[in-house]
Amino acid sequence: MNLVELESVRLSYGQAQALEEVTLRIGEEERVVLLGPSGCGKTTVLRLIAGFLAPDSGRVLLEGRPVSGPGRILVPPEKRNVGLVFQDLALWPHLTVRGNLDFVLRARKIPKSEWKERTGALLDLLGISDLADRKPAQLSGGQQQRAALARALVQEPRILLMDEPLSSLDYDLNRRLREEILRLRERLRFTLLYVTHDREEAFHIAQRIIVLSRGSIAFQGTPEEARAWFDS
Ligand SMILES: Nc1ncnc2c1ncn2[C@@H]1O[C@H](COP(=O)(O)OP(=O)(O)OP(=O)(O)O)[C@@H](O)[C@H]1O
Ligand SMILES: [Mg+2]
Repeated sequence: MNLVELESVRLSYGQAQALEEVTLRIGEEERVVLLGPSGCGKTTVLRLIAGFLAPDSGRVLLEGRPVSGPGRILVPPEKRNVGLVFQDLALWPHLTVRGNLDFVLRARKIPKSEWKERTGALLDLLGISDLADRKPAQLSGGQQQRAALARALVQEPRILLMDEPLSSLDYDLNRRLREEILRLRERLRFTLLYVTHDREEAFHIAQRIIVLSRGSIAFQGTPEEARAWFDS
């Protein structure tokens, strides 16, 4: 079964056409990278999947079920089994790391008796258990990145959307966290849709690469096929 499907999706912001006829499918436990230059529509695709936007035409399906259609959101973001990590992270600054995770669990109506075990296990896995009581401003960039990852995963989503999550980090930390994301995925078995404009990052992370260009899909294939396509 396809976990995510966009069927002939078009979307414009006012006059500006952001996506034209985008059709894509992501299978269970796939690792897909959406690659393309600034302004090509990558974040827009993620917003559609997360449920912050509805297409102008076409539809979006999750786990085979339509979640939005022309001008209509059928399933709101909080009812979708989707985790999100955006470039600006958007950890709630007034809450501690644990507070950020608890907030999600409360919103998702997870019984309070499960909170401690869930957050504990995840913070351990990410190596930030000793930072649980700090606020985001008291963390380094890489630690904030891990906290944002923990927050996205604490609801145990089937699909994780990541929008250039490592682009603000230096090269070494970027490499290290990439490895960590891949390792976490092996452990927790979520499907990954990762957005970047960086080819090297895309080749490292992807099983399949989708290249977006000015709102349309220009290419889809394995990293090897993508390399050949870029070279041609
Ligand atoms: N809220 C908005 N209102 C108007 N235009 C928008 C809005 N959001 C995005 N756009 C436009 O839609 C197009 C696609 O934007 P999008 O954010 O999806 O690009 P992107 O590929 O994520 O770019 P970047 O790599 O810079 O993040 C761009 O031309 C952008 O200017
Ligand atoms: Mg973007």
